[in-house]
Formats: sequence, structure tokens, C-alpha cells
Amino acid sequence: MIHQDLRPAAEEVLRRNDRGAFTAPSPRQYPHLWLWDAGFAALGWAALGDFERAYREIRAALRGQWRNGMLPHVVFYEWPSAYFPGADVWRSDLAAEAPAELPTSGITQPPVLAFVVEILTRHDPDRGRAAAFRREAFPALRAYHRWLHILRDPQGMGLSLLVHPWESGMDNSPLWDAALARVPVGDLPPYRRADARWVPEEQRPRSADYDRFLALILHLRSHCYGESGVRTSPFRVYDVLFNALRHRSEEALLAMATALGEPTGEIEGWLAQGRAAFQAYLWDPAREFFLDWDAVAEARIPVIAAGGFLALYAGLATPEQAREMVARYLTNPEAFAPDGGTRYRVPTVSKAEPGWEPRRYWRGPIWINLNALIAHGLRRYGFTDLAEQIRADTFALVARSGFWEYYDPRTGEGLGIEGFTWSAALILAWDLLEVPETR
Ligand code: DGY
Repeated sequence: MIHQDLRPAAEEVLRRNDRGAFTAPSPRQYPHLWLWDAGFAALGWAALGDFERAYREIRAALRGQWRNGMLPHVVFYEWPSAYFPGADVWRSDLAAEAPAELPTSGITQPPVLAFVVEILTRHDPDRGRAAAFRREAFPALRAYHRWLHILRDPQGMGLSLLVHPWESGMDNSPLWDAALARVPVGDLPPYRRADARWVPEEQRPRSADYDRFLALILHLRSHCYGESGVRTSPFRVYDVLFNALRHRSEEALLAMATALGEPTGEIEGWLAQGRAAFQAYLWDPAREFFLDWDAVAEARIPVIAAGGFLALYAGLATPEQAREMVARYLTNPEAFAPDGGTRYRVPTVSKAEPGWEPRRYWRGPIWINLNALIAHGLRRYGFTDLAEQIRADTFALVARSGFWEYYDPRTGEGLGIEGFTWSAALILAWDLLEVPETR
């Protein structure tokens, strides 16, 4: 249950950021629809009892779907805006598969929508409406996961390949430092970032990162976002967080297919591939952690980041692996646990990493979506006390500072943008994220 005193303020944030058809993550900093933000926002609306509004959020994300199945990470509702890189940079009109009337980006973001739709339709008290929405959304969600398995698995690894750090959602994580350093910048057109207008520069990605973010967009765009651009991208990574959320979504797709009387064989095949690939490629026995795989360097990325714990949310760790990850990292004050220096759980990156920066975006601050997913993963494996501790820390952070985009794990100070949608939505919807298999 949410602390009753946080509920009105959380609701106020959602209503303030509501643009009618979609909820902006922040109307100034992120004025359009972002894919995984839309999923978390929908959960927030459902927690307020407004399932119609939650379904509208999902419909707005699905309206951006490309004919090949891809769900883009940004749908440019309310374009033009001051956001960079905007629709004029992405130029989705160059891709034959993109929607004709609605500009979008040309990459995706962590696949949360299927498990969100499963949660919404499981909790909606109007069972007829829930069944109708499940029937409506299922084909688009299945098409998206087909795209993830076919077009984004060119080597048949059983994992989906990312071709831009933004696809991971963790834009400037130290996970990408080595892989991004190899991205040639070439002759970039002059550009002006808009993101440091509202947020101090020291809390945002560096300019060298932005050069590479843009260079990667221009590479993919020059291939009209087709398969050749994916194959030749200088950034190609199999990420644990992304693929764990894909797996969790496919568990949900299987439940939905069963409820709808749809064939289940294809989805069961995806689940089996994902389970095998996590063990074959991503588990690092020496470090006792799930690590990302750099497909350009053909090696695991030796960075311990909180996204690794999402393997628990997806049920992808063996009980032994889960115990090792918790003992060696999550409860270790030199890695993720409080130590006097940090007071709150869970920093996005282990404090032992040389790239750890507690105030810079995805390089160390606490994010509420990761905390919620980690806590429910822990519950799935029986670590209920630790899950409760993370929940208590998260609610304490919000009670202390408000609904910020991210938080300094040393002080609890809010960072980034204030009034951030998913921070409010997930405080409201924390309990909804529980994995049914936990019970
Ligand atoms: C941003 O603009 O910072 C986004 O995270 C990119 O999608």
C-alpha cells in the first residue's frame, strides 16, 4: 500500500503531466511519448482506478508502431517542440515501415508494454472491458516481440540486440563507455542540446556522449533504419535489463495468449531461447553476475550495474545465482548497500566501478523504476526483507525530496527533473508490479 500522504502529490504529478492522449515524462524536458515511460504511466493511472486512461496511454504508444512490428522509443505527439533530437533529426519518414502521419524515433526502448497490459487487464474490475482490451492489444504486442526476436536477433543468440544506448533506457551508463568510445563521430552537423536547459549539466550525459548518440542516429538513418544499419552499427550490445524485461513481457504474453485461446508455441519457444541465452552468454561465473555482451568486441562488458538484478524479476536466475548476486553485490556496502557514504538503495551502478558518479543520470543515482523492479524480483526469489527495505528506502526518498527523476544515493537529494511521471506513477503502482509467479 502507498503511504496515504504521498498519494495526492503523486496524483497531482500525473495530472500535471497529462497531455490528454499521453502522459509526458516531463512536459518541459521530455514533451513527447517515451515507450517505457508510457508503460509505467499507465500503471499509475490504473492505481488511481482510471483504467480507461491507462488503456489510452497504451493505445498512444501502440499508434507509433511500425509495419515491421517495432515500437519506437519516442512518438512525437505535439511536434514541433524544443526537444533535441526531434523529429527533424530522426526523419522516420525515410523508413517505408514507419507510420505515415505520426513522426517517431527509429529505435526502441525496454519492452515493458506486454507485462504492463497483462497487469492492467488482470486488475481491471470491469472484466468485459479488460478482456476486450487484451484482445485489442495482443496482436500488436506479439508483432513487437516477433520483431525483437527476428530483426533484432541477427545471430540467432536468443537475445535482442541494441544498436543505440538509448534503447537500454540507461543512456549514459558506464556499461557503454568502452563500446561508445569506439563509435566514430565523423563530421557531425552543428547541433544544440536542449536537455541542459532545465537540469544542471553535471547531472546530464557529457557532450562526448551526445556526439556519439547523434552519430549513431545518423548511421541508422542513413540506412533508413533497415536491417543493414543494424548489422553495420558500430554499437551492438546484448543488454541484461532489456532482455530481462523482454522475458518478463513474454511470460505475460504467454498468459494473455492462453486467456485468449491464441497459439502459445511461438511464445514458449521465445521463453526457452531467452532462458538458455541468459545462462550461455550473460551469466559470468567468475563475477557471479549477469553481464551485458558487447557484440562488436565479442566479450562480456565487465561493469556491475543494477540492471543485472532484473534477471530476478524475469525469473531468469537459478536460486543459487540469485543468492550469489544478493550476497556479493546487493547487500555488500562496497557495491550497492548503504555504507555511511551512501544511505539509500539501490544506486544504478556499483560504487566499486571506476565509472560510478552518484549525481550523473544513469551513472550512479537511484531510479524509482529500477528499485521497484529489483524489489519485486527479490520477492520472486523469497528475499522479502530486502525487498521491503528497498521499498522503504524508495518511499523515504520521495517523502524527503518529492517526485524527482533520480536521486543522489548519498543524501537522497532529488536530481534531474522535478515532477517526473514514472516516479509518481510507480509510487502509486508499486504493488501492481508484483510477479504473479511470486504467490
Ligand atoms: C533523453 O532525451 O535524454 C532521452 O533519454 C533519450 O531518449
